[in-house]
Amino acid sequence: MKAFAIITLAFAGASAFAPQASTQKTFACLQSSVDDKTEVREYFNTEGFNRWNKIYSESDEVNSVQLDIRTGHDQTIQKILNWVQADGDNKGKTFCDCGCGVGSLAIPLAQMGAKISASDISDSMANEAARRAKEMGIKNAKFYTSDLESVTGKYNTVTCVDVAIHYPTEKMSEMVGHLCSLAQDRVIISFAPKTWYYVFLKKIGELFPGPSKTTRAYLHEEEVVRQALSKAGFEVARDEMTATNFYFSRLLEAKRV
Ligand SMILES: C[S@@+](CC[C@H](N)C(=O)[O-])C[C@H]1O[C@@H](n2cnc3c(N)ncnc32)[C@H](O)[C@@H]1O
Repeated sequence: MKAFAIITLAFAGASAFAPQASTQKTFACLQSSVDDKTEVREYFNTEGFNRWNKIYSESDEVNSVQLDIRTGHDQTIQKILNWVQADGDNKGKTFCDCGCGVGSLAIPLAQMGAKISASDISDSMANEAARRAKEMGIKNAKFYTSDLESVTGKYNTVTCVDVAIHYPTEKMSEMVGHLCSLAQDRVIISFAPKTWYYVFLKKIGELFPGPSKTTRAYLHEEEVVRQALSKAGFEVARDEMTATNFYFSRLLEAKRV
């Protein structure tokens, strides 16, 4: 059963570029990450939007797997909110949420008084987040469409939750470095951890891709993420693991030292 947790995101359909010489290897790598982004953007603007917008809501139109993922994701969000709340007054503190989805984290952070800048590679996701925030009368959050690598500025806290599953392994360190460059005080990041057990589940899952289109899924070695944080001058201060039947997410909070 657990295998489907990662499979829900694991179906890979993109054709790989086939290099013949080593000079083409770099290009192949670049090509692959561009393809990943195109695929992810298209997915979250269409079928992925419909699917995740339901998961990240109170809609009854979800199956038991989606309900389980909703439960796991809610737990991750609540853990982050607990950390932020425990650290005290957030009024006027700036937060940058990269890959904000429909605002599941950005909106409650705004309700806690923080000033939010949230973005997502998908227009549909960012627009839905803005719609939900407006409906709730939230004025201290702005939402826009952007690849997280193009996000600029300086913020007290940078968050990036459950986005790294769409990030190719070879780009992960660079991505973490970029998030750190935006953060004055703190980075909060979650990812599906690359342990033998989850790798095994993913392999099993790939044997049963299921009917719905999804994107490629990447697990990440915790040590790689920690080293990238450390290289950028951050130290892990708190960590959590959330695992339900169909959802796995390792959560790290790193503070600038
Ligand atoms: C599984 S959802 C998580 C959304 C949100 N962080 C949350 O926890 O509710 C992943 C989101 O990451 C976004 N995403 C994926 N790759 C991205 C990138 N390179 N830049 C910005 N957003 C990205 C997707 O469009 C999608 O909305």
